[in-house]
Amino acid sequence: MSSKLRLGVNIDHVATIRNARGGVHPDPVDAAKLAVKAGANGVTAHLREDRRHISDKDIERLCEEVDKPLNFEFAATDEMLKIAIGHLPHAACIVPERREERTTEGGLNVVNGYDRLKPYVDALNNSGIRVSLFIEPDPIQIDGAKALGAPVIELHTGAYCDAKGSYREFELARIVAAAAHANDIGLECHAGHGLTFETVANVAVIPTIAELNIGHFLVGEAIFIGLEASIRSMRKLMDQVRPA
Ligand code: PXP
Repeated sequence: MSSKLRLGVNIDHVATIRNARGGVHPDPVDAAKLAVKAGANGVTAHLREDRRHISDKDIERLCEEVDKPLNFEFAATDEMLKIAIGHLPHAACIVPERREERTTEGGLNVVNGYDRLKPYVDALNNSGIRVSLFIEPDPIQIDGAKALGAPVIELHTGAYCDAKGSYREFELARIVAAAAHANDIGLECHAGHGLTFETVANVAVIPTIAELNIGHFLVGEAIFIGLEASIRSMRKLMDQVRPA
């Protein structure tokens, strides 16, 4: 705990822009390489069931062409498990997925979903892929992730980022407590969703968080200042509160 905070850059929305015209530009794999140059410690990509942004080919190329760890996000389905085991990425993050949602709206319910998720967590563990479960900052869910045998959790920071004033402080306190609890029971703790230049420092400063995964804001900000500058600025804000 409290070592240098890792940054995983999520390049899904580079693919969203590419797919708006159905061509090859902008290339999410080129964006991943630029992210590494700008200080990302890894790249995150979510292969959705409906392939709305990242494609199967993107996952294949990210594994082959990017020399930093890939954190492969997907929903717990047999199709996705087969793809993960076929590529053996460094890490897999299991997320909830609903076709009609615009983005991953909340965390997995790993307590109610124990029986459904257990075979996926076991198969990934047995393949040597580091498994994380994307959950709400709730101690019951954290204990549920531990019971499932996942070595890592990722806390959903969306409620904190969306909240205003004292509600935001309340949501931040939940993240602080959740990250401490995860550390106490031996889980590595990551966090992400909705983080921006404005919201990142309060999360980055939490010493029991090892990694942040950030995407939409970085790609949006790239429109104004460029992708490399947007990632470098985010990295700087993280480093200011968590020097190595
Ligand atoms: N972490 C996980 C598990 C995600 O699913 C996502 C994308 O929804 C992110 C982090 C990054 O979120 P954002 O794109 O809002 O930065």
